[in-house]
Amino acid sequence: MTLTPQWLDELRSRITLSTLIGRTVKVIRAGREYKACCPFHNEKTPSFTINDEKGFYHCFGCSAHGDAIRWMTDQRGLSFMDAVKELAAEAGMDVPAPDPRAAKKAEEQASLRDVTQAAADWFAQQLASSNGAPAREYLAKRGISEATRKAFGFGLAPESRSALKEALKKFPTAMLVESGMLIAVDDKEPYDRFRGRLMIPIRDARGRVIAFGGRILGDGEPKYLNSPDTPLFDKGRTLYNLDKASPASRQTNRIIVVEGYMDVIALAEAGIADAVAPLGTALTENQLGMLWRMVPVPVLCFDGDSAGQKAAMRAAMRALPLLRPGFSLAFATLPAGQDPDDLVRARGAEGFAAIVDEAQPLVERLWAHEVAAGPLTTPEERAALKTRLLAHADAIEDADVRHHYREAFRERLDALFARGRPERGSRVPWAPQPSRGGGGRRFAPDPRLQPPVDEARSIGQIGIGGHYAASLIAGLLRYPAAIRRHEEALTRLAIPDSGDAELLRVMLDSADGQEGLDCEGLLAILEPMKVYNRATTLLRADGMHFSFNRRLDGEEVDAARETALRDLDEYIGVLVTQPEIRSRLAEATADYMRSMDDEGHARQQKLRAMDEELTRRLAALSDSSPG
Ligand code: UTP
Ligand code: MN
Repeated sequence: MTLTPQWLDELRSRITLSTLIGRTVKVIRAGREYKACCPFHNEKTPSFTINDEKGFYHCFGCSAHGDAIRWMTDQRGLSFMDAVKELAAEAGMDVPAPDPRAAKKAEEQASLRDVTQAAADWFAQQLASSNGAPAREYLAKRGISEATRKAFGFGLAPESRSALKEALKKFPTAMLVESGMLIAVDDKEPYDRFRGRLMIPIRDARGRVIAFGGRILGDGEPKYLNSPDTPLFDKGRTLYNLDKASPASRQTNRIIVVEGYMDVIALAEAGIADAVAPLGTALTENQLGMLWRMVPVPVLCFDGDSAGQKAAMRAAMRALPLLRPGFSLAFATLPAGQDPDDLVRARGAEGFAAIVDEAQPLVERLWAHEVAAGPLTTPEERAALKTRLLAHADAIEDADVRHHYREAFRERLDALFARGRPERGSRVPWAPQPSRGGGGRRFAPDPRLQPPVDEARSIGQIGIGGHYAASLIAGLLRYPAAIRRHEEALTRLAIPDSGDAELLRVMLDSADGQEGLDCEGLLAILEPMKVYNRATTLLRADGMHFSFNRRLDGEEVDAARETALRDLDEYIGVLVTQPEIRSRLAEATADYMRSMDDEGHARQQKLRAMDEELTRRLAALSDSSPG
């Protein structure tokens, strides 16, 4: 037993803090506390208080704060152990002797690390030697530069059962076995674990080699072989590349989790340094904790295929009980069958970064998964969806986060199932029309178009994003003629904000049977109502990017009005169509995951392309300026 919290408490309780501090500065009694001029900053009136009962000092001027031990380290400049020893002497307590077992363990670990480091050095030598030529060629073929090879300490285990054992014979065989470098079976002679493999050292958080991963050169089984768990290496408590990624994440404010260490290395080669990988197992609670110590919302990357998506859900489930306010996960989905290594090679660092940027928040991931899990036509199926979602929320231990998840799911369920007014017919509200006047821009994606603006990306899966709703309503306020024209489509839109939903409903009622209603006319109708304030706010709002949100003045008002009206028509078409396409896409994805046939794939891809096209159109609209 070393210094336990109980022992330290006992030590603190035997020291009178005001007496200790009184030896250095003059203390004055003030009620149940003591005051002094703060020794940590310059002052004339005392704002430094000492509370003997609690054993703490606190300065209201400079926020210096601590207990007796802290006083000895911060004011007297002692090391923690020296502070403890001096205080213990004063308190008449014996400092517990270091636990011989703990000391022995630390010593053993240190010497096991000598073994793994020596092995890493030897493997690296082998790779650099003439024996290593094929392995170096393999690395070159994978696009791994010499600099990256050195930075990650690549090595080579030759095809031999005794080469490493021979090279490390200065260490006792038992240590070579314990560090996982040799395999000892029964009474047979221990032999090299890694043979004929490219060696990748696995480092701890402080950059010390604690284990290895070995990749077969070429084809063969198993593709990867890792060190077994040893006193140094616990798979579930290690993240590959943590030592390098942790400082990198402080620069980028981001941490990316990928599946394999070759992915981490390929990303590093492409200049993306803030990536880690678990070691062939699903993420553990401990690893999630390590990630959350770096950033509040780590991004997990998964393959878009069904195995990858299953793994994503497994990670989501594991995280739920651990969520705390502000801490979550995001999920980036790679194109099916591509790992990050393939992806950076095909699309470069930007291509990969774009996918990471679009990572889905955990709540969205759960929702999308459950909505896609089965049909939602009967009341029973709908109720089952609700049950599944609320079960996820119930897995969250933190009461606040749990509450907000429940709310988020309820809102989405309402938006999904409540359709406001009853549907009148099922005309698809948008269909390609031949372009009028202003050229073909609208129906062909603009080749110069940058990736969609954030707004265009954040459209909800079902229903429409709040921003979009605001722009829409503002546009309709300015051009009420469009309300009647799109009445049917507008009644089917699910608007997340209840105030905005109410405003739109009132606008629909007001426009009913009002031929030639204009903005002023509409405002006059709204004026006595509660929604009027919101209406005028929306009309005045900045930060809306659409032609129909702009006040028209100056020359060419007529042309600008025509553009605005056309854009508004188009916008409504996309807003109504996209949620429909997306729910069909979710269905098609689920079908395809079950069938895995070509037909299902083609259908799913077609819907995905339609969805992307709609997103592009939205972005093109927000790009447009009148005239
Ligand atoms: P993958 O099979 O996806 O390998 O395994 P990869 O990262 O794409 O490797 P390359 O590109 O073919 O070289 C992903 C991770 O799963 C673990 C390893 O940790 C690997 O990084 N794994 C895989 C094993 O532990 N053993 C295996 O046999 C295969
Ligand atoms: Mn790969």
